[in-house]
Amino acid sequence: MINIPKGTKDTLPSESAKWRYIEDSLRRLSSLYNVREIRTPMFEHTELFVRGIGDGTDVVNKEMYTFEDKGGRSITLKPEGTASVARSFVENSLDAMSLPLKMYYITPCFRYERPQAGRLREFHQFGLEIYGASSPYLDLDCITFAYEALTGLGLKNIRLHLNSIGCPECRKTYTAALKEYFASHLDEMCSTCRERYDRNPLRLLDCKSPDCKAIAAGAPRISDYLCDGCRAHHAKLQELLKGAGVPYEIDEGIVRGLDYYTRTVFEFVTEDLGAQGTVCGGGRYDNLVQSIGGKPTGCVGFAMGLERILMLMEKQGITFPDERVGVFVMSQSADQADACMRITAELRRAGVSADTEMTGRSLKAQFKYADKIGARFGIVIGGNEISSGTVKIKNLSDGTEEECALGDIAARMKEKING
Ligand code: HAM
Repeated sequence: MINIPKGTKDTLPSESAKWRYIEDSLRRLSSLYNVREIRTPMFEHTELFVRGIGDGTDVVNKEMYTFEDKGGRSITLKPEGTASVARSFVENSLDAMSLPLKMYYITPCFRYERPQAGRLREFHQFGLEIYGASSPYLDLDCITFAYEALTGLGLKNIRLHLNSIGCPECRKTYTAALKEYFASHLDEMCSTCRERYDRNPLRLLDCKSPDCKAIAAGAPRISDYLCDGCRAHHAKLQELLKGAGVPYEIDEGIVRGLDYYTRTVFEFVTEDLGAQGTVCGGGRYDNLVQSIGGKPTGCVGFAMGLERILMLMEKQGITFPDERVGVFVMSQSADQADACMRITAELRRAGVSADTEMTGRSLKAQFKYADKIGARFGIVIGGNEISSGTVKIKNLSDGTEEECALGDIAARMKEKING
């Protein structure tokens, strides 16, 4: 037997309704927020991610699925959606459209990580990206969307952690201060932190090792280094979040693992999922579009991991609407099989979900099957029903029955099921 690759998952027919429920809820919210869908390819030129995400990041350094295609080009399966949206924005001159432009995507992403619960090599993101302005009102719109998306799905115990990591100007002074502070502690820190010291000193702030955490607690704080513009942006956003009733806490340890962020960064975090508790992450990235060849464009966005959302919903006992077939049409004997097919077709044409027996099983076995698939109603077609022109519609949940003329089945069922 050939097994599924490590770190990937099948979505089985019994689970797909849950996925669709989550996706539908996010699509509905998108239309309420005037956000349109964008779809980009599953793979891009490797250069896009190296330039966009940054070659000092773990994603680019260690986690990309990169290969050479038959034309000798270096191709990478997308590890996230933001860089692809930025590429598409520039390539299709979307800046010529009315800005701000709000886009969402639902996409598989690929990262070569060590798989564990909530961490996969192929996972799925819902992402929102807002292009075309640097105002903190856009940050508010973006964060409020994420907040409403999570609460709208019924999720609890999720906290919003907010920080500002400044702009390249104020970050320059801050990273110099960080490097000076950590220099004298480096030999007490883990090998990952020592490795990151030169490449990405900000990341020393979010190491999970208890020893490194204790050292990071004494590090200089970004809030003491923000320039006036970044400070004002951060303060205004907090005022807006309070006004909108979106609870948050300032967490200066949130630095994010991708290099494109400027100013606002945030994560929605839960303690209910163990180590992989970040269900959503994002922030502002005002320099990404320019860094891949476009004009300076203020942007803000986030992505949420759909596997983590699903895990959390299941853990918190949130019920999903079940997907059941409306009617199962049963044949008393093989003689009525053709009539059952015709009635089923009529039901479907009328917009009622219906199925019928196609394998010649006994009536008892058909009832068992109807029960297993959760059919809401059952109709038995026998010789008597055909000659009298009347059938009994059985409610399979409570066993009650009602009569109906053979020719009226579709209309009656449409009324009963679809209202
Ligand atoms: P990210 O924090 O790398 O940000 O990923 C966003 C979310 O994807 C995470 O919070 C997590 O829920 C989920 N996720 C990440 N890696 C995995 C994995 N290996 N397995 C399962 N779920 C995972 C980004 O990707 C940015 N592009 C977000 C963004 C959009 N920033 C601005 N716009």
